[in-house]
Amino acid sequence: MDRYCVMGNPIEHSRSPWIHARFALSGHNLQYDKRLVPLDGFAQAVAAFRAEGGLGCNITVPFKFEAAQLANHQSPRAQLAGASNFLHFRADGIHADNTDGAGLVNDIQNNAGVALAGCDVLLIGAGGASAGVLGPLIAAQARRITVANRTLGKAEALVARHAALAQSHGVQVDSAELAAVQMPYDIVVNATASSLSGAGVPVSPSVLKPGALALDMMYGPAAAGFMDWARTHQATPRDGLGMLVEQAAEAFLLWRGVRPPSAQVLAELRASLG
Ligand code: ATR
Repeated sequence: MDRYCVMGNPIEHSRSPWIHARFALSGHNLQYDKRLVPLDGFAQAVAAFRAEGGLGCNITVPFKFEAAQLANHQSPRAQLAGASNFLHFRADGIHADNTDGAGLVNDIQNNAGVALAGCDVLLIGAGGASAGVLGPLIAAQARRITVANRTLGKAEALVARHAALAQSHGVQVDSAELAAVQMPYDIVVNATASSLSGAGVPVSPSVLKPGALALDMMYGPAAAGFMDWARTHQATPRDGLGMLVEQAAEAFLLWRGVRPPSAQVLAELRASLG
């Protein structure tokens, strides 16, 4: 049986084993577990799983940066993100990729039904979550992307790292402080941990065009504040469950060579969470 796992700390909450088990029902004989990894034991945990015959693993907080460093080969999108949520053990070493951005783009376009091409996108936050998705948002040919962050310097650095990609795609990418963003956007993505800390939504509602898609990468209670805010201001709220399932689908595709039935699995996951 082919073996995979997700590694993180904490890991108990992870839905990835459930999602991959559902994907596997489409005709794959695989086992996918979760592993709690000690904070100082990531490299050893990866080596142990590989020695046990594991084929690859997903990586979650706080090991995504270490995962990218550990790999022998990094995909261009993992390199740009500086972080990896995906490792594949192959004959020539460990390959790292980052499927978060593809997950977000596929959720927005295929599940929410909003084409990114030509859209103005506001990306709130400049931490690891934003870094993972900026490259794929550019590649999807948004018209303009603003990265807004509480600490302006971090947004500037993230945008600078993506300047060549943005230029090659003809996409305008800029950075701003949260309070300075006022103009309306078609899509607003919250990639900050602001909801978790109960700090409220860190931008003005004027950033929402009427009917804009307002997506929080979190789901469950952590996304509720942002979703309520979006609803109150005539935007279309969306949580991060679709992104979660789609980043898993992209990983499954990379490991197995086939795209799993993600829309159906997303519907089941939503139903199971009530
Ligand atoms: P992650 O990997 O989840 O992105 P991170 O790298 O710690 O986590 O980044 C957290 C992001 O949320 C940052 O953009 C952070 O802003 P700063 O760079 O200014 O720290 C943002 N963030 C966290 N709490 C916030 C709050 N209460 N209001 C606004 N932004 C917040």
